[in-house]
Amino acid sequence: VHQRLSVTFEYPVVFTRDLLAQGNPVLTHVLTSRGGPRPHRILAVLDDGVASAFPDLSARLAAYAGASEGVLALASDPVVVPGGERAKNDPTIVARLHREIHARHVDRHSFVVVVGGGGVLDAAGYAAATAHRGIRLVRVPTTVLGQNDSGVGVKNGINAFEAKNFLGTFAPPFAVLNDSLFLERLPRRDRIAGLAEAVKVALIRDGSFFTWLEAHVQALAACDLDTTTTAIRRCAELHLAHIAGGGDPFETGSARPLDFGHWAAHKLESLTTHELRHGEAVALGLLIDGRYSVEAGLLDAASFGRLHALLGALGLPRWHTALEDHAPLLGGLEDFREHLGGELTVTLLTGLGRAVEVHAMDVDRIRAAIAWLGEARAR
Ligand SMILES: NC(=O)c1ccc[n+]([C@@H]2O[C@H](COP(=O)([O-])OP(=O)(O)OC[C@H]3O[C@@H](n4cnc5c(N)ncnc54)[C@H](O)[C@@H]3O)[C@@H](O)[C@H]2O)c1
Ligand SMILES: [Zn+2]
Repeated sequence: VHQRLSVTFEYPVVFTRDLLAQGNPVLTHVLTSRGGPRPHRILAVLDDGVASAFPDLSARLAAYAGASEGVLALASDPVVVPGGERAKNDPTIVARLHREIHARHVDRHSFVVVVGGGGVLDAAGYAAATAHRGIRLVRVPTTVLGQNDSGVGVKNGINAFEAKNFLGTFAPPFAVLNDSLFLERLPRRDRIAGLAEAVKVALIRDGSFFTWLEAHVQALAACDLDTTTTAIRRCAELHLAHIAGGGDPFETGSARPLDFGHWAAHKLESLTTHELRHGEAVALGLLIDGRYSVEAGLLDAASFGRLHALLGALGLPRWHTALEDHAPLLGGLEDFREHLGGELTVTLLTGLGRAVEVHAMDVDRIRAAIAWLGEARAR
C-alpha cells in the first residue's frame, strides 16, 4: 500500500496601515474569507511590549469587533504575554495559552490572532498549532523582523534544553497582516536590527535589491517609514518566493539558504544570552560568512567591502566582544548541523545576489575572517 496525498497551502500577506481603524476592512475580510460559522471568534494574544507602546490596543480591538455587527467576536479579553525571547524561554506561557484556548472554547473554526514581535509570534504560533492539532493563526507582526522574515514564514517554536526552537512545528498561518503603524513606536534598535534580514536575502537572491539598499541607506538608517516599508515588502516577497518555489517548504533536506549567516548568528545570540538582537547577530554572521567567502576565493574583496560598508552605514554591529574567543563560536557549526539534520550545509557567496552551498568549513579560514573583522575596526 502506498499512500500519497498533496495539500495546497495558501495565505495572504497583506500590507496595511492602522488595521484596527474603524473602516479598515482588512481584518474582517481576512477572517470571513473562507466562510465558517458566525460570529468568527477571536482569541487575541498581545506582546506586552506592544501593549505598553499602544495602551489603547485592547480597547480598539474590542471596538473593531463590536462594530462588526455580529461578524466578529472576541472569545475573551486579549491575553498579554511577555515580549521578546522571554515568550520562548518560559514554557508556562505556552501552557497558559493552551489553558485559555481550552477555557474559552476556541475551536478549529476560531482564530488565534497574535500581535507582536517574532518571539511572541513563535510562542503563540506553537500554542495554536498544537491545540486541537491546529487552530487557525493570524499573525500581526509588529517588528521589522516579524514583518519581513519570521512572521511571513511557516515555522513556529519555543526554546528548550537551552536549544533555540527545539520545540516547534511547521504550520502555515491563515493570514499575515503587516501593519506599518506598529513600526512607529518600535525602538530604533529593533527597526535597524530587522533590516539585517533584508541584506541577507538580497545577498543570496537579488543583487538589484542589494543595490537598492545601498542607494537608500541614509533613509533606512534614519528609520524613514516609507523606505523601511518598501524594504520590508521586497524582503517578504523574496522570502515567500523561496518558501513556495524553493522545493522544500518544510525543510526536509539539509539546504537552508535563508539561514545564510545563521550558524554564527544563532551561536552569538546564545553566547551573549540574547543581549544581541537576532538581526544584529545576523549582521555579524553575514560578515563572518561573507569574509569567509573571500578567504575561500569565492567572492571578490570589493563586493565584500560593499557589504561591510552597507551594514556599517545602516548602524548594524560589525564586531562584538563575543568574537574575541573563537572556540565557543566554532561550536555553532555543529549545533547548526544538528539543527538541520544530516549533512552540514552552509551557504556562501559568489557575488552580491549569488550564493553557493558548501558542506565543510575550514576552521583557519573562519579564524581569518573573524580576525579581519577585528582589524577592520582600527582601519
Ligand atoms: N519562525 C521563524 O521562522 C523565525 C525566523 C526568524 C526569527 N524568528 C524569531 O524571532 C525572534 C525575534 O523577533 P523580533 O526581532 O521580532 O523581536 P522580539 O520578538 O524579540 O521583540 C523585541 C522587543 O520589541 C518589543 N516590541 C515588539 N513590537 C513592538 C512595537 N511595535 N513597539 C514597541 N515594542 C515592540 C517586544 O516586546 C520585545 O521586547 C527570535 O526569537 C527568533 O528566533 C523566528
Ligand atoms: Zn534570521
